[in-house]
Amino acid sequence: MSAQHNQPPLKIDIWYFSATGNTARIAGVIKEEYVRLGADATLIDITPYTSRNAGVIPGSGDLVVLGLPVHSWRAPRVVREWLATLQGHGKKIALFFTYGGFGIHPAHETTRSLLENQGFSVVASAEFCGSHTFNLGGWKAMEGRPDQSDLEIARAYAEQVLCRFTGEDCRTLGEMERTSHSDEFLDSIEEFRFRILTQMPARQGSCTDCGRCVRCCPTGSMDPETGRAGKDSCIACLACVVACPDHLISINDMSESWSYKLRTEGVTEEEMRKKKSRFYL
Ligand SMILES: Cc1cc2nc3c(=O)[nH]c(=O)nc-3n(C[C@H](O)[C@H](O)[C@H](O)COP(=O)(O)O)c2cc1C
Ligand code: SF4
Ligand code: SF4
Repeated sequence: MSAQHNQPPLKIDIWYFSATGNTARIAGVIKEEYVRLGADATLIDITPYTSRNAGVIPGSGDLVVLGLPVHSWRAPRVVREWLATLQGHGKKIALFFTYGGFGIHPAHETTRSLLENQGFSVVASAEFCGSHTFNLGGWKAMEGRPDQSDLEIARAYAEQVLCRFTGEDCRTLGEMERTSHSDEFLDSIEEFRFRILTQMPARQGSCTDCGRCVRCCPTGSMDPETGRAGKDSCIACLACVVACPDHLISINDMSESWSYKLRTEGVTEEEMRKKKSRFYL
Protein backbone atom coordinates (compact mmCIF):
# COMPACT_ATOMS: atom_id res chain seq x y z
CA MET A 1 0.00 0.00 0.00
CA SER A 2 1.24 3.52 -0.74
CA ALA A 3 0.50 6.75 1.09
CA GLN A 4 0.49 8.68 -2.20
CA HIS A 5 -2.49 8.74 -4.51
CA ASN A 6 -1.57 11.88 -6.51
CA GLN A 7 -1.95 13.83 -3.27
CA PRO A 8 0.63 15.47 -1.04
CA PRO A 9 2.36 12.87 1.15
CA LEU A 10 0.77 12.19 4.53
CA LYS A 11 2.57 14.04 7.31
CA ILE A 12 3.18 11.69 10.21
CA ASP A 13 4.91 12.73 13.43
CA ILE A 14 6.49 9.94 15.45
CA TRP A 15 6.77 11.03 19.09
CA TYR A 16 8.95 8.73 21.15
CA PHE A 17 10.18 8.64 24.72
CA SER A 18 13.21 6.42 25.09
CA ALA A 19 15.63 6.35 28.00
CA THR A 20 17.83 3.45 26.90
CA GLY A 21 17.18 3.17 23.16
CA ASN A 22 14.62 0.37 22.65
CA THR A 23 11.67 2.62 21.91
CA ALA A 24 13.86 4.86 19.73
CA ARG A 25 14.88 1.81 17.70
CA ILE A 26 11.29 0.78 16.97
CA ALA A 27 10.38 4.41 16.22
CA GLY A 28 13.25 4.55 13.71
CA VAL A 29 12.05 1.43 11.91
CA ILE A 30 8.49 2.76 11.75
CA LYS A 31 9.80 5.99 10.26
CA GLU A 32 11.83 4.07 7.65
CA GLU A 33 8.75 2.09 6.71
CA TYR A 34 6.64 5.23 6.29
CA VAL A 35 9.27 6.87 4.14
CA ARG A 36 9.41 3.70 2.02
CA LEU A 37 5.62 3.88 1.65
CA GLY A 38 5.79 7.50 0.50
CA ALA A 39 4.75 9.35 3.66
CA ASP A 40 6.49 12.41 5.12
CA ALA A 41 7.48 11.03 8.54
CA THR A 42 9.36 12.95 11.26
CA LEU A 43 10.89 11.56 14.44
CA ILE A 44 10.30 13.75 17.51
CA ASP A 45 12.15 12.84 20.71
CA ILE A 46 10.02 13.66 23.76
CA THR A 47 12.42 12.14 26.30
CA PRO A 48 14.24 15.21 27.72
CA TYR A 49 11.98 17.23 30.01
CA THR A 50 12.80 20.33 27.95
CA SER A 51 11.05 18.74 24.93
CA ARG A 52 7.62 18.45 26.61
CA ASN A 53 5.91 21.81 27.00
CA ALA A 54 2.50 21.88 28.68
CA GLY A 55 -0.30 22.19 26.14
CA VAL A 56 2.01 22.15 23.12
CA ILE A 57 1.59 19.47 20.45
CA PRO A 58 5.04 18.81 18.96
CA GLY A 59 5.41 18.76 15.16
CA SER A 60 3.01 19.80 12.47
CA GLY A 61 1.54 16.48 11.28
CA ASP A 62 -2.14 15.59 11.54
CA LEU A 63 -1.22 12.01 12.30
CA VAL A 64 0.83 10.81 15.25
CA VAL A 65 2.57 7.61 16.28
CA LEU A 66 3.40 7.66 20.00
CA GLY A 67 6.06 5.23 21.28
CA LEU A 68 6.67 4.74 25.00
CA PRO A 69 8.42 2.29 27.30
CA VAL A 70 6.26 0.56 29.91
CA HIS A 71 7.18 1.77 33.40
CA SER A 72 5.43 -0.19 36.15
CA TRP A 73 2.68 -1.49 33.83
CA ARG A 74 1.79 1.93 32.40
CA ALA A 75 3.18 4.78 30.34
CA PRO A 76 5.88 6.65 32.32
CA ARG A 77 4.26 9.01 34.82
CA VAL A 78 6.00 12.10 33.42
CA VAL A 79 4.58 11.34 29.98
CA ARG A 80 1.09 10.73 31.35
CA GLU A 81 1.22 14.08 33.11
CA TRP A 82 2.25 15.81 29.89
CA LEU A 83 -0.34 14.03 27.72
CA ALA A 84 -3.03 15.23 30.13
CA THR A 85 -2.17 18.83 29.13
CA LEU A 86 -2.68 18.32 25.36
CA GLN A 87 -5.81 18.88 23.27
CA GLY A 88 -6.10 16.33 20.45
CA HIS A 89 -8.98 17.93 18.49
CA GLY A 90 -9.66 14.57 16.82
CA LYS A 91 -6.04 13.96 15.76
CA LYS A 92 -5.47 10.31 14.89
CA ILE A 93 -2.83 8.63 17.05
CA ALA A 94 -1.37 5.10 17.00
CA LEU A 95 0.40 3.84 20.12
CA PHE A 96 3.23 1.44 20.68
CA PHE A 97 5.03 0.31 23.79
CA THR A 98 8.31 -1.44 24.42
CA TYR A 99 8.54 -3.58 27.53
CA GLY A 100 10.91 -5.92 29.31
CA GLY A 101 8.72 -9.03 29.26
CA PHE A 102 6.62 -8.48 32.40
CA GLY A 103 3.41 -6.50 33.06
CA ILE A 104 2.08 -4.68 30.01
CA HIS A 105 -1.67 -4.82 29.63
CA PRO A 106 -2.78 -1.81 31.70
CA ALA A 107 -0.48 0.34 29.52
CA HIS A 108 -2.63 0.00 26.39
CA GLU A 109 -6.01 0.75 27.88
CA THR A 110 -4.95 3.38 30.43
CA THR A 111 -3.00 5.36 27.80
CA ARG A 112 -5.81 5.01 25.29
CA SER A 113 -8.39 6.30 27.72
CA LEU A 114 -6.15 9.21 28.79
CA LEU A 115 -5.69 10.23 25.14
CA GLU A 116 -9.36 9.85 24.27
CA ASN A 117 -10.23 12.08 27.23
CA GLN A 118 -7.92 14.68 25.68
CA GLY A 119 -9.71 14.47 22.32
CA PHE A 120 -7.38 12.17 20.34
CA SER A 121 -8.68 9.32 18.22
CA VAL A 122 -6.64 6.21 19.07
CA VAL A 123 -6.49 3.97 16.00
CA ALA A 124 -4.17 1.12 17.04
CA SER A 125 -1.69 -0.07 19.67
CA ALA A 126 1.28 -2.43 19.81
CA GLU A 127 3.81 -3.96 22.19
CA PHE A 128 7.42 -4.74 21.32
CA CYS A 129 9.84 -6.79 23.40
CA GLY A 130 12.91 -4.85 24.53
CA SER A 131 15.82 -5.64 26.83
CA HIS A 132 14.72 -4.63 30.32
CA THR A 133 16.29 -1.41 31.59
CA PHE A 134 17.34 -3.20 34.78
CA ASN A 135 19.57 -5.52 32.73
CA LEU A 136 22.00 -2.60 33.20
CA GLY A 137 22.08 -3.69 36.86
CA GLY A 138 22.31 -7.45 36.29
CA TRP A 139 18.81 -8.62 35.26
CA LYS A 140 18.53 -10.86 32.18
CA ALA A 141 15.10 -10.01 30.82
CA MET A 142 14.65 -9.98 27.05
CA GLU A 143 18.36 -9.66 26.35
CA GLY A 144 19.11 -8.82 22.70
CA ARG A 145 15.57 -7.55 22.02
CA PRO A 146 14.26 -5.94 19.97
CA ASP A 147 15.68 -8.36 17.37
CA GLN A 148 14.98 -8.79 13.64
CA SER A 149 11.65 -10.53 14.30
CA ASP A 150 10.49 -7.62 16.47
CA LEU A 151 11.55 -5.13 13.79
CA GLU A 152 9.61 -7.05 11.13
CA ILE A 153 6.49 -6.81 13.31
CA ALA A 154 7.13 -3.06 13.66
CA ARG A 155 7.18 -2.72 9.87
CA ALA A 156 3.96 -4.69 9.51
CA TYR A 157 2.38 -2.53 12.23
CA ALA A 158 3.38 0.68 10.45
CA GLU A 159 1.71 -0.55 7.27
CA GLN A 160 -1.54 -1.52 9.03
CA VAL A 161 -1.66 1.82 10.83
CA LEU A 162 -1.19 3.65 7.53
CA CYS A 163 -4.52 2.20 6.30
CA ARG A 164 -6.17 3.74 9.37
CA PHE A 165 -4.35 7.04 8.87
CA THR A 166 -5.43 7.33 5.23
CA GLY A 167 -9.03 6.40 6.08
CA GLU A 168 -8.91 3.35 3.81
CA ASP A 169 -9.69 1.51 7.07
CA CYS A 170 -11.80 3.92 9.11
CA ARG A 171 -11.95 1.86 12.33
CA THR A 172 -10.34 2.86 15.61
CA LEU A 173 -8.58 0.60 18.13
CA GLY A 174 -10.83 -2.30 19.16
CA GLU A 175 -11.67 -3.26 22.72
CA MET A 176 -8.56 -3.85 24.86
CA GLU A 177 -8.25 -5.82 28.08
CA ARG A 178 -9.10 -3.57 31.03
CA THR A 179 -7.12 -3.75 34.23
CA SER A 180 -8.97 -4.76 37.37
CA HIS A 181 -6.45 -2.75 39.43
CA SER A 182 -7.29 0.66 40.84
CA ASP A 183 -5.24 3.76 40.02
CA GLU A 184 -4.10 3.73 43.67
CA PHE A 185 -2.74 0.20 43.31
CA LEU A 186 -1.00 1.05 40.03
CA ASP A 187 0.49 4.14 41.67
CA SER A 188 1.78 2.02 44.55
CA ILE A 189 3.71 -0.40 42.33
CA GLU A 190 5.77 2.50 40.98
CA GLU A 191 7.62 2.40 44.30
CA PHE A 192 8.86 -1.14 43.57
CA ARG A 193 11.69 0.22 41.40
CA PHE A 194 13.34 1.85 44.42
CA ARG A 195 13.37 -1.41 46.36
CA ILE A 196 15.67 -2.67 43.63
CA LEU A 197 17.52 0.50 42.66
CA THR A 198 18.88 1.25 46.12
CA GLN A 199 21.80 3.37 44.93
CA MET A 200 20.46 6.22 42.81
CA PRO A 201 22.51 7.04 39.68
CA ALA A 202 25.62 8.93 40.72
CA ARG A 203 28.78 10.04 38.97
CA GLN A 204 31.97 8.41 40.23
CA GLY A 205 35.11 10.51 39.94
CA SER A 206 35.79 13.59 37.85
CA CYS A 207 34.44 13.98 34.32
CA THR A 208 34.61 16.13 31.20
CA ASP A 209 31.34 17.97 32.01
CA CYS A 210 29.96 17.12 28.58
CA GLY A 211 26.44 17.55 30.03
CA ARG A 212 24.87 14.56 28.25
CA CYS A 213 23.58 13.01 31.47
CA VAL A 214 21.87 16.29 32.37
CA ARG A 215 20.39 16.99 28.92
CA CYS A 216 18.94 13.50 28.43
CA CYS A 217 17.21 13.33 31.82
CA PRO A 218 13.40 13.18 31.42
CA THR A 219 12.77 14.81 34.78
CA GLY A 220 15.56 17.37 35.19
CA SER A 221 16.71 15.25 38.09
CA MET A 222 20.43 14.93 37.36
CA ASP A 223 22.38 17.62 39.20
CA PRO A 224 25.19 18.95 36.97
CA GLU A 225 27.25 20.01 39.98
CA THR A 226 27.14 16.88 42.11
CA GLY A 227 26.48 14.35 39.30
CA ARG A 228 23.75 12.78 41.45
CA ALA A 229 20.12 12.01 40.73
CA GLY A 230 17.55 13.78 42.92
CA LYS A 231 15.86 11.24 45.18
CA ASP A 232 12.36 12.68 44.84
CA SER A 233 12.24 13.33 41.10
CA CYS A 234 14.35 10.52 39.58
CA ILE A 235 12.19 7.91 37.81
CA ALA A 236 14.96 5.27 37.56
CA CYS A 237 14.84 5.27 33.76
CA LEU A 238 18.67 4.99 33.60
CA ALA A 239 19.00 7.30 30.59
CA CYS A 240 21.90 9.02 32.34
CA VAL A 241 23.73 5.71 32.85
CA VAL A 242 23.53 4.93 29.12
CA ALA A 243 24.28 8.52 28.03
CA CYS A 244 27.65 8.88 29.75
CA PRO A 245 30.36 8.24 27.13
CA ASP A 246 32.87 7.44 29.88
CA HIS A 247 30.57 5.09 31.86
CA LEU A 248 30.99 7.20 34.97
CA ILE A 249 27.43 6.95 36.28
CA SER A 250 26.86 3.94 38.45
CA ILE A 251 23.99 2.20 40.20
CA ASN A 252 23.87 -0.78 42.54
CA ASP A 253 24.06 -4.41 41.40
CA MET A 254 20.45 -5.58 41.08
CA SER A 255 21.21 -9.19 40.10
CA GLU A 256 19.97 -10.66 43.39
CA SER A 257 16.48 -9.40 42.68
CA TRP A 258 16.40 -11.12 39.26
CA SER A 259 15.61 -14.65 40.47
CA TYR A 260 13.14 -13.17 42.96
CA LYS A 261 11.41 -11.37 40.09
CA LEU A 262 11.15 -14.57 38.01
CA ARG A 263 9.76 -16.45 41.02
CA THR A 264 7.13 -13.85 41.86
CA GLU A 265 6.09 -13.54 38.20
CA GLY A 266 5.96 -17.36 37.89
CA VAL A 267 7.96 -17.36 34.66
CA THR A 268 11.29 -18.83 33.48
CA GLU A 269 13.98 -17.13 31.38
CA GLU A 270 13.20 -19.60 28.57
CA GLU A 271 9.49 -18.69 28.62
CA MET A 272 10.36 -15.00 28.56
CA ARG A 273 12.61 -15.43 25.54
CA LYS A 274 9.69 -16.96 23.61
CA LYS A 275 7.52 -13.87 24.02
CA LYS A 276 6.65 -12.14 20.78
CA SER A 277 5.93 -8.58 19.86
CA ARG A 278 2.37 -8.01 18.66
CA PHE A 279 -0.10 -5.37 17.63
CA TYR A 280 -3.77 -4.64 18.19
CA LEU A 281 -6.11 -3.06 15.66
C1 LIG B 1 11.18 2.29 36.05
C2 LIG B 1 10.96 1.18 35.07
C3 LIG B 1 9.83 0.38 35.17
C4 LIG B 1 9.64 -0.66 34.26
N1 LIG B 1 8.49 -1.40 34.36
C5 LIG B 1 8.30 -2.42 33.50
C6 LIG B 1 7.12 -3.21 33.56
O1 LIG B 1 6.20 -2.96 34.37
N2 LIG B 1 6.99 -4.26 32.71
C7 LIG B 1 7.97 -4.56 31.80
O2 LIG B 1 7.82 -5.56 31.10
N3 LIG B 1 9.08 -3.79 31.66
C8 LIG B 1 9.25 -2.73 32.48
N4 LIG B 1 10.37 -1.93 32.34
C9 LIG B 1 11.31 -2.20 31.23
C10 LIG B 1 11.10 -1.26 30.06
O3 LIG B 1 9.72 -1.17 29.73
C11 LIG B 1 11.85 -1.74 28.82
O4 LIG B 1 13.16 -2.04 29.11
C12 LIG B 1 11.75 -0.70 27.70
O5 LIG B 1 11.98 -1.33 26.46
C13 LIG B 1 12.71 0.45 27.87
O6 LIG B 1 12.57 1.32 26.78
P1 LIG B 1 13.67 2.40 26.38
O7 LIG B 1 14.96 1.64 26.08
O8 LIG B 1 13.14 3.03 25.16
O9 LIG B 1 13.83 3.32 27.53
C14 LIG B 1 10.58 -0.89 33.22
C15 LIG B 1 11.70 -0.06 33.12
C16 LIG B 1 11.90 0.96 34.03
C17 LIG B 1 13.09 1.85 33.88
S1 SF4 C 1 18.64 10.99 36.96
FE1 SF4 C 1 17.00 9.49 37.14
S2 SF4 C 1 15.37 10.31 35.83
FE2 SF4 C 1 17.27 11.37 35.26
S3 SF4 C 1 18.12 10.17 33.57
FE3 SF4 C 1 19.05 9.39 35.45
S4 SF4 C 1 17.74 7.67 36.07
FE4 SF4 C 1 16.55 8.89 34.57
S1 SF4 D 1 27.67 12.25 30.72
FE1 SF4 D 1 29.43 11.50 31.92
S2 SF4 D 1 31.14 12.77 31.20
FE2 SF4 D 1 29.26 13.82 30.55
S3 SF4 D 1 28.77 15.25 32.24
FE3 SF4 D 1 27.66 13.35 32.67
S4 SF4 D 1 29.03 12.15 34.02
FE4 SF4 D 1 30.27 13.77 33.03
